[in-house]
Amino acid sequence: MTRIAASMLAADFLNLGKDVEFVNRHADIFHLDIMDGVFVPNISYGFPVVEAVASAAAKPLDVHLMIVEPEKYVERFIRSGADMLSFHLNAAGDPAALAGLIRSKGVKAGIAINPDIPVEKLFPYLGVCDFVLVMSVFAGFGGQKFIEETYSRIGKVKSEILRTGAECLVEVDGGVSGKNAAALKSAGADILVAGSAVFGVRDPAEAVRSMRI
Ligand code: DX5
Ligand code: ZN
Repeated sequence: MTRIAASMLAADFLNLGKDVEFVNRHADIFHLDIMDGVFVPNISYGFPVVEAVASAAAKPLDVHLMIVEPEKYVERFIRSGADMLSFHLNAAGDPAALAGLIRSKGVKAGIAINPDIPVEKLFPYLGVCDFVLVMSVFAGFGGQKFIEETYSRIGKVKSEILRTGAECLVEVDGGVSGKNAAALKSAGADILVAGSAVFGVRDPAEAVRSMRI
């Protein structure tokens, strides 16, 4: 069954506890976007917010690093409460070693790619990580339009996972909603990340239900 990760970037930061409770009740995973203003042209939030969410979370924390030199910070994010931790392929000096370090701490390691990176670049790492994060918008901002080429990109990476027998899940992030959830699942996505389609709508619980197909 497809799991729904709620992106806290779109949460109400003045009422974060309320949105954490919402995810505890209705979604499967907390998705936390870390942006440094260098790898991406935006700055989000850091350790105190991750730690605050972790203190009240009853579901796993999925921390998505959009930062340069991720190797400097993975241990700190693990101490802050990450259960899943992804970094961008082109931000890491040695992606296999970094995934190995994350896994050695008992945390699921993920490798992310932006829409302009050929999915084949992920293939050498499918056996050394727990999930790949296929971006369906360019990392950096919530609320962007879903890029349609994502379906075929997910299909390609899923075929390679099945062909090689790698135990690697496929996560998709950006512009995901009830409108494309079924097609993303058929393409091969295991985890759907959604921010504005969850927290930016009148009935967030119904929005999550509409993605559970
Ligand atoms: C974008 C982030 C996403 C973002 C998704 O760089 O990685 O997780 O919060 O937001 P929506 O669902 O609004 O596209
Ligand atoms: Zn993200």
